[in-house]
Amino acid sequence: VKTITLPLLSAMRTAGDRIAMLTVYDASFASLMDRCGVEVLLIGDSLGMACQGHNSTLPVTVADIAYHTAAVRRGADSAMVLADLPFGSYATPEEAYRNAVILMQAGAQMIKIEGGAWIADTVKFLRTRAVPVCAHVGLMPQSVHQMGGYKVQGKTAESAERLKADALALQVAGAEIIVLEAIPAKLGKEMTELLSIPTIGIGAGPDCSGQVLVMHDMLGIFPGKKARFVKNFMSGRNDIAGAVTAYVAEVKSGIFPGPDHCF
Ligand code: KIV
Ligand code: NA
Repeated sequence: VKTITLPLLSAMRTAGDRIAMLTVYDASFASLMDRCGVEVLLIGDSLGMACQGHNSTLPVTVADIAYHTAAVRRGADSAMVLADLPFGSYATPEEAYRNAVILMQAGAQMIKIEGGAWIADTVKFLRTRAVPVCAHVGLMPQSVHQMGGYKVQGKTAESAERLKADALALQVAGAEIIVLEAIPAKLGKEMTELLSIPTIGIGAGPDCSGQVLVMHDMLGIFPGKKARFVKNFMSGRNDIAGAVTAYVAEVKSGIFPGPDHCF
């Protein structure tokens, strides 16, 4: 099995080989997912909801992410380990860098931050100091109170254009990959064609360079509200490795996401 690197992810995008990403928070699941062919393991701040039982990602700290990143690192083999900078941890480029160092020393190979053109300076500051950055636009869960709920983004022509401009600014600043969350499938396709870095969709349609889901959602064990883009891969199956293997296969073949999971 090949070690997953940034040049490899870029080559996959160019070749049209879709990238499979899942969130994960501990060593045993990391090991299982790695063996099932998941290329990128994301220690998402979704752990605030999935693991800690909060109703948003806002209470999650850098120390929380570092703890779970260290556990995932021990379980991972060839997969890339990506960790979220949580709410309030990247107000300035310097603060972002200091916190990114903590997560990279815990085992992350890349960090993810939410935001558009306004964080381009932070992206540039990080990448020029050897911190690879995954950007995250569209529905940004850390902005839940500002958005007034978890809402699909980029539905108007004006907001779609703004999202494209944000994504381009992040790419120019040096973002290596970009997560597109909860946007119309048509916009996900247009942004993927516009950008030269891989796009990873969650509720962004089937035409992104890859897909991501929260582990607890794709295993059908999250007790809260189920978003439209979620698919339970345990249904009709009786083992977790089978569900993760099916997820990877459906992402690779383009079966997932289907029309039912798109906006
Ligand atoms: O925290 C998370 O799980 C995420 C993914 C949904 C992209 O950011
Ligand atoms: Na997140």
